[in-house]
Amino acid sequence: MTLRVGQVGLGYWGRNLARVFDDEADLAWLCDASEALRDEFARRYPNARMTGDFAEMAAAADLDAVVIATPVPTHFPLAKAALEAGKHVFVEKPPAMRVAEMEELIAIAAARGLVLMPGHLLLYHPGVQKLKELIEDGELGDVLVVYGNRQNLGKIRKDENALWSLGVHDLSVILYLIQEEIVEAAAHGHAFLNEGVEDVVFCYLRFGSGKIAHMHLSWLDPHKMRRLTVVGRDKMAVFDDMDLDRKITVYDKSPEQSSDTYGEWLTRTGDIFSPKVSNAEPLRLECQHFLRLVEEGWDGREMHDGLEVVRALELLTESLRG
Ligand SMILES: NC(=O)c1ccc[n+]([C@@H]2O[C@H](COP(=O)([O-])OP(=O)(O)OC[C@H]3O[C@@H](n4cnc5c(N)ncnc54)[C@H](O)[C@@H]3O)[C@@H](O)[C@H]2O)c1
Repeated sequence: MTLRVGQVGLGYWGRNLARVFDDEADLAWLCDASEALRDEFARRYPNARMTGDFAEMAAAADLDAVVIATPVPTHFPLAKAALEAGKHVFVEKPPAMRVAEMEELIAIAAARGLVLMPGHLLLYHPGVQKLKELIEDGELGDVLVVYGNRQNLGKIRKDENALWSLGVHDLSVILYLIQEEIVEAAAHGHAFLNEGVEDVVFCYLRFGSGKIAHMHLSWLDPHKMRRLTVVGRDKMAVFDDMDLDRKITVYDKSPEQSSDTYGEWLTRTGDIFSPKVSNAEPLRLECQHFLRLVEEGWDGREMHDGLEVVRALELLTESLRG
């Protein structure tokens, strides 16, 4: 059965989602508040019904699922309306700005047996899957530290700070890799360009077992970095999304305590290697995953993982605001 999908938000990111959902499903409805975008998309997808009124699309009896790619503050009301209209929902990250709102969405989805999947794109990246595999296979030994660098002289946003715009990506991966509860969260940052919107944010997280994580998030930086480093007790691994053909590098390096040095720590340096990583498009894998959940049923994992990301964002925001 080809699922019938309606999408709201046809801006910068929405056009990517529409391209993939048009390939993978029946993109039956499109919605945007902008008339210019509606005109452009009506030419590109002549078979889709077009509207500027989200309520009209959500109420359509012939739709199975709704895709939401509008600005973050609109996610919660739109996702709630779509779920209440009985539609499965794929919503860009994060689905809500408060834990209480996220819990409300989860309760509606669970009560009605609907899929609610947040668009945490990186979780579908084959490079991140490889990192997870290395950790689960015990290749790196106990994970001690995970840190992310997401910097650029990049798009300067006025409505979301660097934590909400950039940090949400690394946070979803850090929580996915560590799978533990956060016991301490601290964030520092500064708004240099737009009042109240931090352009540079540094975050620190500590987990129950003592593992720690860090994120450097900035759109005021000379380096374009999209990198995640995992320091294990036995080996260390780096996921570098800017590197076209070496997404993952594993460093066979670790500290070692030998008996003949009276407990002194020495360093051991072995091979450096780069395992093969599929070059499948993460966005396509993400959309296919959503459609599979709708068709085959699910256990709610994705929406509960999404809740933990919102919880971490809330903790870090409280710390940032001091
Ligand atoms: N996963 C990723 O890598 C990734 C990358 C970029 C953006 N995003 C996310 O995608 C979302 C959209 O970001 P963007 O950069 O495309 O924004 P954008 O401003 O380019 O597009 C948003 C569109 O939503 C429309 N819109 C807003 N409210 C509406 C409503 N109530 N009804 C109908 N249309 C409405 C606007 O007219 C606009 O065309 C954000 O949540 C962003 O965080 C995700």
